[in-house]
Amino acid sequence: MNFPQDFVWGVATSSYQIEGATREDGRGESIWDRFSHTPGKVMGMENGDVACDHYHRYEEDIALLKQIGVDSYRFSIAWPRLFPTGEGELNGKGLDFYKRLIEKLLQNGIQPLVTLYHWDLPQKLQDKGGWVNRDTAYRFQEYAATVFRHLGDLVTMWTTHNEPWCASFLGYGKGEHAPGIQDHYAAVQASHHLLLSHGLAVQAFRESGKNGRIGITLNLSAAYPATDDEEDQKAARIWDGYFNRWFLDPVLKGEYPQDMVELYSRYQPLDFIFDGDLETISVPIDFLGINYYSRSVLTAEDPDPILGVGHQKPVLPTTDMGWEVYPEGLYDLLTRIKREYKPIDLYITENGAAYPDELKDGEVEDWDRVDYLKAHFEAAERAIREGVPLKGYYVWSLMDNFEWAYGYSKRFGIVYVDFRTQERTLKKSGKWFASFLANRKRSIDGVYE
Ligand code: FCB
Repeated sequence: MNFPQDFVWGVATSSYQIEGATREDGRGESIWDRFSHTPGKVMGMENGDVACDHYHRYEEDIALLKQIGVDSYRFSIAWPRLFPTGEGELNGKGLDFYKRLIEKLLQNGIQPLVTLYHWDLPQKLQDKGGWVNRDTAYRFQEYAATVFRHLGDLVTMWTTHNEPWCASFLGYGKGEHAPGIQDHYAAVQASHHLLLSHGLAVQAFRESGKNGRIGITLNLSAAYPATDDEEDQKAARIWDGYFNRWFLDPVLKGEYPQDMVELYSRYQPLDFIFDGDLETISVPIDFLGINYYSRSVLTAEDPDPILGVGHQKPVLPTTDMGWEVYPEGLYDLLTRIKREYKPIDLYITENGAAYPDELKDGEVEDWDRVDYLKAHFEAAERAIREGVPLKGYYVWSLMDNFEWAYGYSKRFGIVYVDFRTQERTLKKSGKWFASFLANRKRSIDGVYE
C-alpha cells in the first residue's frame, strides 16, 4: 500500500470507555455513570467505574502507542472532569490530568487529536434537559473556550463532537445510550443543539487565536437499496437523510435536507431552529472526521414506525457486533463526499472491528481483525488515488474497553486488556499494524536518503 508521506496514522479511544477513576480528583457525575448504574441499561450491568484504569496507567498506555509507532493519538476530554456540574468553576485537577497526558504524548513524538465531547455529558446539565435544552449548547461553548485557553498551545488538532447521530438518536430517540430517553422529537431537537454547539465551539476556537485545526467527527453509513425497486430506493434515500445528510448538510452546506425537514415536521414543528443557527453550524471547519464501520441495506419491507424503512439482514460475514464487513462502503463514502460536498480535508477518525478474542499462551490470534483493517486501508488508499483528500486514519481502538450498552463483552482493541488484572497484551493485529508503520517509516526514510 502506498499512502502519501505526510499521511497521519493513529489509534483512537474515548474518556468514559477507558479512564475509570470516575469519582477521583473532583470529577462530577456524567450521564454515562448514571445510565450504566441504572439496572437494565448495560449488558451485565457493567459500567466505566474502572474501565481500563487509564487515568492511572496512561504512561504505560503511551508506551504502547510508542511501541506501535503511531504518529497521532485520538482521545476525548471528559467534560465533568473539568466542570463537575457542567458550568461554573474550573476543576484544576481534572485539567491537570489532560495536561500530563498531552505533555507525555508530545515528549514521545505523538500528536494529540482531542475530541471535546464523546458522550459523557455532566449529569447536572442532563437534569436541566441535556441536549434537548438549547442552553447546553452555550455551556458547551464555554467549556470548549476554557479548554482552548488552557491546552490550545499544546494541541493542534481538535474535533468538537464525536458522532452526534449517536448522542442524539441513540441517546434521546431509541434510548439505547445515555440518557436513555425514547422520544424521536426530543432526539431531533437534541441533534440540532449538538450541531449548534459544534458551530459555537468552532467560533470560540477562532476567537481564542490559537493555532491549529478544528473539525467534527460524524459516523456515516454507506446506505444502499436492497433492490432496484423504487420503494427500496426511497427507503435508502430516507435512511441516508436520517443518518448522513442530516449532519453533513448543515455543517457543509448550511442547510438541513428538505426531505427530512418535511418528514420530521409531520410529527411536530421544528420551531427550535432559530434564525441564524444554520450560519453558526456551517462556520468553516478545517477538516471532517469520519467514523466508518459497516454498510446499511434498506428495504421497504417491515418498516419502522418513524422513518418507514426496513433493514435487510446481513448477508456478508459480520463482526462480533453483527455488522457486515464491507470495505467497499468506505470507498463509496469517501468518493461520494468528494463528489457532493465542497472540498474539505478528510480523516478517518475511527475504523475497526470487534471479534471474540482469546488470550492463549500470551498471544491473541486475531487474524480476522488484521484482514478487516487491511481491506479497509486498501479501500482508503484507492479513494486517495482517485483524488479524495484523505489525510489520516485512526484505528478504533488502541485497547479493549467499555463498549457502551455492550459493556465489556465486545473487544475492539489492537491491544488485549485483561479486565481483572489490567494487563495489556499486544494482539496480532497490533503487531501487524506496528510492522505496517515501521515498513512505511523505512520506505519514507529511503526516499529521503
Ligand atoms: C463508535 C463510537 C466508539 C466505539 C465504536 C465501536 O460509534 O464512537 O466510541 O464505541 O463505535
